[in-house]
Amino acid sequence: MKNMSPWWIRIPVVFFLIFGLMEYFVDSGDKLAIIEYPIAQLFLLMVLLILIAIELVLSSIENIMFQTLSEEAKERYFISNLKQWEWTWGKKTYQRMLGSKPIEKEAEIILDHNYDGIRELDNELPPWWVYMFYATIIFGVVYVIRFEVYNDYDQISEYEQEVAEAKIAIEEYKKTAKGLIDAENIELLTDASDLSAGKAVYEANCIACHMADGGGGIGPNLTDQNWILGGGIKNVFNSISEGGRDGKGMVAWKQILKPEEMAQVSSYILTEIVGKTAASPKTAEGDIWVDENAPPAPEGSVSPDEEKSREDIAPEQETDSTNTVVD
Ligand code: HEC
Repeated sequence: MKNMSPWWIRIPVVFFLIFGLMEYFVDSGDKLAIIEYPIAQLFLLMVLLILIAIELVLSSIENIMFQTLSEEAKERYFISNLKQWEWTWGKKTYQRMLGSKPIEKEAEIILDHNYDGIRELDNELPPWWVYMFYATIIFGVVYVIRFEVYNDYDQISEYEQEVAEAKIAIEEYKKTAKGLIDAENIELLTDASDLSAGKAVYEANCIACHMADGGGGIGPNLTDQNWILGGGIKNVFNSISEGGRDGKGMVAWKQILKPEEMAQVSSYILTEIVGKTAASPKTAEGDIWVDENAPPAPEGSVSPDEEKSREDIAPEQETDSTNTVVD
């Protein structure tokens, strides 16, 4: 037992070694194995208990052997036990790295000058410092060759790459986070659950002005193909989110509804209300919406009064900040 490290080093070292090996070999995805599989905690507890048991057994064996020794041998055992554990390698390396002369040998390196009683030791530079200095020289050479001679990446390309990565990450995030919908990235929702959620939003907030069937009242008719503020999912979402023209009565619902709810109600209007026949429809207002991205409509399918309604509405729209009609 003489040359061994003490138990308070042995147990933690062995314990964390086993812990590390377990984490390495047990495939537990991103999480630690002890979190993923609670049984692993039990296993580690067992390991710890076994380690402690081994230590106890060893020390009682040592104890028994000690009892069998002669008095003189006991004495020797104590003395050797006192200096049993010293980390000689660490100590020696530390001394070497400092490189200073022991005090007894300082006479060898003292310089002749005497400045009012202050004298100077001609110590060598400490090796830890010298090695670090060499390391910086090597680093500098490698750096100059890599970045000045071979023009490896620079800060600008590093920055651009990080921005590009971040943009991809944002897009990924937006795909999964429904609450982040805005007028730019909104798409028509088609899930039945979204549409019925949209219907619920519509019935709770919108029928007072647009009627349950969308025929219109204070607000315009939503069943026809004419839109004051522009049709298509993006414009409809924008009208709901930002509200109508000043003084018309359509508030900016973004203060009341979540983006997700506005997306649902927009989709509900476009799929379930547009195109239906209302009981008492209001006369159409605004332009017939033509989707620029849609395949071109057959000749003559645009209603003849489109031009007229455009004129009706144009002057008013100019002062309108929320106007999204695409002319
Ligand atoms: C207080 C009455 C009122 C309520 C409540 C109301 N609206 Fe409106 N809505 C209007 C008016 C008025 C307009 C016309 C705005 C304009 O002319 O600028 C309008 C316009 C719209 C438009 C654009 C129509 C077009 O032709 O461009 C949409 C879409 C719309 N509302 C949806 C909704 C939804 C969805 C709700 C419920 C969340 C709702 N509205 C609640 C009064 C209302």
